[in-house]
Amino acid sequence: MDTNESTVLKLFVVGILVNAWMMRGLSAADSLDIEPTAPRPKKACNESRLRWEVEVCGEVFKRDMGHIDPQYWCNLTHFISEYHHFTRCTELKADVVSCYWPNPLVESYIIRIHKHFFSNCSADHVVWVDPPDDTLTILILIPVFLTLAMIALVVWCSKRSDILA
Ligand SMILES: *[C@@H]1O[C@H](CO)[C@@H](O)[C@H](O)[C@H]1NC(C)=O
Ligand SMILES: *[C@@H]1O[C@H](CO)[C@@H](O)[C@H](O)[C@H]1NC(C)=O
Ligand SMILES: *[C@@H]1O[C@H](CO)[C@@H](O)[C@H](O)[C@H]1NC(C)=O
Repeated sequence: MDTNESTVLKLFVVGILVNAWMMRGLSAADSLDIEPTAPRPKKACNESRLRWEVEVCGEVFKRDMGHIDPQYWCNLTHFISEYHHFTRCTELKADVVSCYWPNPLVESYIIRIHKHFFSNCSADHVVWVDPPDDTLTILILIPVFLTLAMIALVVWCSKRSDILA
């Protein structure tokens, strides 16, 4: 039970990360394509600022979790939207300060947040799987499909540029 739950959670996180990496690869390929005509000046990632911005996201998440009864902190159904806002926030902030997302700094912060809120979620409390089963399946499938769509898009684009060339 416990291993199932953590496997599902890991799949979910891995799916998101893979998807983010795909997007990153795609935009890298993009800039490679247009490089000869328009070299875009890209500012360097300001890590100290990112650390601070991500803390702000974490504070908002902590405040949101504070509105949720701690007895539900192990029930994903109750905080999925807060959690989504939090990851989205780190993503936007990373973009603002010209850093890639995900990156080690953001990941270690997210792990700290997990330790803070979900360390007590043991097999007898955790409800990752029960009712949100469908939700989780969808959450896992979305990044998987997005990834497949990205691959298809890349293949399609390269085929098209072959034809055009
Ligand atoms: C990074 O951000 C901090 C805080 O906004 C600023 O003080 C610092 O000058 C920035 N560093 C660089 C290299 O831009
Ligand atoms: C988790 O939350 C949902 C929504 O409130 C609820 O239906 C479900 O019974 C909860 N699961 C447990 C085990 O508390
Ligand atoms: C986890 O359990 C410990 C001991 O019961 C408690 O002190 C702590 O506040 C709990 N943490 C969370 C996030 O619920």
